[in-house]
Amino acid sequence: MSMIPVEPCTLALFGALGDLALRKLFPALYQLDRAGLLHEDTQLLALARDGGDPDKHLSTIDAHLRRYLPATELDEAVMQRFQGRMRYLSMEFLPADSYPQLAEMVGSGRQLIAYFATPASVYGGICANLAAVGLAENTRVVLEKPIGHDLESSRAVNDAVAAYFPESQVYRIDHYLGKETVQNLIALRFANSLFETQWNQNHITHVEITVAEKVGIEGRWGYFDKAGQLRDMIQNHLLQLLCLIAMDPPGDLSADAIRDEKVKVLKALEPMTAEQLSRHVVRGQYVAGTSDGKPVPGYLEEENSNAQSDTETFVALRADIRNWRWAGVPFYLRTGKRMAQKLSQIVIHFKEPPHYIFAPEQRQLIGNKLIIRLQPDESISLQVMTKDQGLDKGMQLRSGPLQLNFSTAYKSARIPDAYERLLLEVMRGNQNLFVRKDEIEHAWQWCDQLIAGWKKLGDPPKPYVAGTWGPMSSIALITRDGRAWYGDL
Ligand code: BG6
Repeated sequence: MSMIPVEPCTLALFGALGDLALRKLFPALYQLDRAGLLHEDTQLLALARDGGDPDKHLSTIDAHLRRYLPATELDEAVMQRFQGRMRYLSMEFLPADSYPQLAEMVGSGRQLIAYFATPASVYGGICANLAAVGLAENTRVVLEKPIGHDLESSRAVNDAVAAYFPESQVYRIDHYLGKETVQNLIALRFANSLFETQWNQNHITHVEITVAEKVGIEGRWGYFDKAGQLRDMIQNHLLQLLCLIAMDPPGDLSADAIRDEKVKVLKALEPMTAEQLSRHVVRGQYVAGTSDGKPVPGYLEEENSNAQSDTETFVALRADIRNWRWAGVPFYLRTGKRMAQKLSQIVIHFKEPPHYIFAPEQRQLIGNKLIIRLQPDESISLQVMTKDQGLDKGMQLRSGPLQLNFSTAYKSARIPDAYERLLLEVMRGNQNLFVRKDEIEHAWQWCDQLIAGWKKLGDPPKPYVAGTWGPMSSIALITRDGRAWYGDL
């Protein structure tokens, strides 16, 4: 989005031996290096609590890189250059003892990027320690989600960071904003006048956003059970997607212009009464089933689980936006673990033509849809009605796609991982793919009232069989309005 050149910097990765760093961040940094996008003087500091021989920890990072990178993308010359950039420091993050050594390793006058791949509870403490050794001024801090588990706790984290770093130095990650197709959504909406004239309640009946995952909670039960799918996915990823679809065109592409528009959408989300909550929101929890033809355990039978848990692993809901553009246009959101497929897609359903002139039995075919597929197979497709070919077909209609499939359209270009783009934009000092404090807080405010409502109702989540599309009531949620989830098999 931005072509600001990348300056040299030191990227200090707190939590360098954690899952996120090993699985996502180091491979993303390697890819940037391979693509020639890291300045030759960019340095990496891997920071973790594990003591002992630094070389041993650097080899662990190396081994994971080799495991997670596709063999065709492993280039020994790049690998060597990449390793040459990296140093390891064993340190505790909250006691201040190691920070003078860290400051010395960073050196003076360099741009520091402090990436916190740690629990949010230590963000404030790390910021205080960085400031105490003079590392606040020239530093950008990158915060991973989850930032808090409700409005109050997220405010506490944001305030603790803000005591040392102004908002212009804070980069809050929502990795969905770095996905290629999400970026394309902005191009599609605001570089084509075609859509903008149709993008409102006069032309759109409803919008679906599905983020379905095939994986369960293997190994992550401790974290996930305290969060649940609403906090883990809706509060951030799905609401961000909703904002990008629903926002008004920003005045320009600057970070604040985009974020101001997103905040307006979050503020316009209709809060739910108890009656709406039971009609418009479905919570689910998976029970044993099959995935890829193999039996898989239910949520309550996963390793380290507590059989009494009523945490949801699935949420489907209908959100309404109180403004002129979207009055009467429901946004159906659905996300879950252990679903039938890994599928993230947005479907915009356009209204039928006002007067229908074709054979009545073809009427159910009617309806233009814009389908934005985030994963797998990133694509944008516009379903349009055309005439079936052949003399014998008369005016028989068919619904077919005008399609742009990114992997076939741009054959030579690999689709970068979201973290590659996000890390690059932090290095460029471009905040427009990062979430501002007020966005997070408005999103929490809306989610908090759902959670409070659930507590009052006291209903347990509805069971659904692993490997399916969720509880039956999530289908009823949309069919009650005379619609269906698009493409469920
Ligand atoms: C993370 C959630 O933010 O997003 C995970 O914490 C989830 O629970 C993941 O699995 C999904 O990301 P992606 O990019 O695989 O859709």
